[in-house]
Amino acid sequence: MVLKDNHGRTVNYLRLAVTDRCNLRCFYCMPEHGIDWLQRKELMTYEEMLQLCEILVPMGIEKIRITGGEPFARKDFMQFLIKLSGIKGLKELTLTTNGVLTAPYIPELKRIGIKAVNLSLDTLDQNRFFAITRRDELDKVLHTMHELLKHDIHVKLNAVVMEGRNTEDIIPLAALTKNYPIAVRYIEEMPFNGNGEYKGLAWDHIKILDELKTTYPDIQKIADPQYSTSYNYQIPNHKGTVGIIAAYTRSFCGSCNRIRITPQGDLQTCLYADGSLNVKDLLRAQQTAEDIQQAIKQAILNKDKDGRIAEQKRAATSSQTSMASIGG
Ligand code: GTP
Ligand code: 5AD
Ligand code: SF4
Repeated sequence: MVLKDNHGRTVNYLRLAVTDRCNLRCFYCMPEHGIDWLQRKELMTYEEMLQLCEILVPMGIEKIRITGGEPFARKDFMQFLIKLSGIKGLKELTLTTNGVLTAPYIPELKRIGIKAVNLSLDTLDQNRFFAITRRDELDKVLHTMHELLKHDIHVKLNAVVMEGRNTEDIIPLAALTKNYPIAVRYIEEMPFNGNGEYKGLAWDHIKILDELKTTYPDIQKIADPQYSTSYNYQIPNHKGTVGIIAAYTRSFCGSCNRIRITPQGDLQTCLYADGSLNVKDLLRAQQTAEDIQQAIKQAILNKDKDGRIAEQKRAATSSQTSMASIGG
């Protein structure tokens, strides 16, 4: 089955955030003291998430990405993932993690068929890592990257580019692609740091590419996969690729194929939109699968054309949102 939105876009990708909690405190995502964590009863249970995915896959969802917060910060996450990997008809299951707690689970990830993992890593420098994440865990993230590669799991590194924080990492991160078959992706910073303070975008996709060109003038544009969030490039004689995600500029909304479910069960049809439906409430009210499918279809038929329009319609309070409560 093919699920379409009101703008003719195919919706086949679910980003499911399993927790708002995290073991890091990246300043672009949440304040040092954290956020008002959801109480257990506000969170979707694993059973509810499984039920939801069983409902969504027959509707046309082919790919599920688990996000958070940090997925491995939730108790028994791996057991949930094992169950999720058994859903018939699901073509791709993957996750975005900060990599700190991930390494011990890699053999199991491999066993259940996870082929790719996106790791959040903004810097290769220990001091800058601490300044950005407020934790001293760089070694663990790098260890996870190496272990994933050893297990032949494809790695994308996500680096949010921030003035005064890590712009000196743009080139060293790109240099990793010389010998490692990874995709390094630079992300425009978005206004989801949980305190509503956003000074505007200092490093947009054009500036990031210009910076790459200073060291790699013959960097080459390569084809972007269908639905790609990144513009992709390769440096000649490098094994990996580099990409730039114009997450703030929002130039890829025309091919948006995704919906999000937040840890408390809100369906978000756009990263910049408020939730349009709470699926946890529907599940707890014992609605039938058909009724829930109908409600989800209706929400998808109200999806905004792009992230700018979605943002304009958002409630004023949403400017305080942390990325950990949306899932990225
Ligand atoms: P792939 O499935 O590997 O293509 O990854 P992805 O880019 O879909 O997911 P990932 O979790 O790695 O996200 C990377 C960055 O892109 C994060 O900063 C996300 O918040 C951002 N991003 C993902 N989807 C969207 C989107 O629909 N709109 C915007 N503006 N940003 C997005
Ligand atoms: N702007 C851009 N990207 C962000 N992420 C988290 N917060 C922000 C933000 N304010 C990224 C993380 C992670 C992905 C899911 O979202 O780096 O890799
Ligand atoms: Fe945690 Fe990810 Fe937010 Fe960093 S960006 S604090 S790793 S949820």
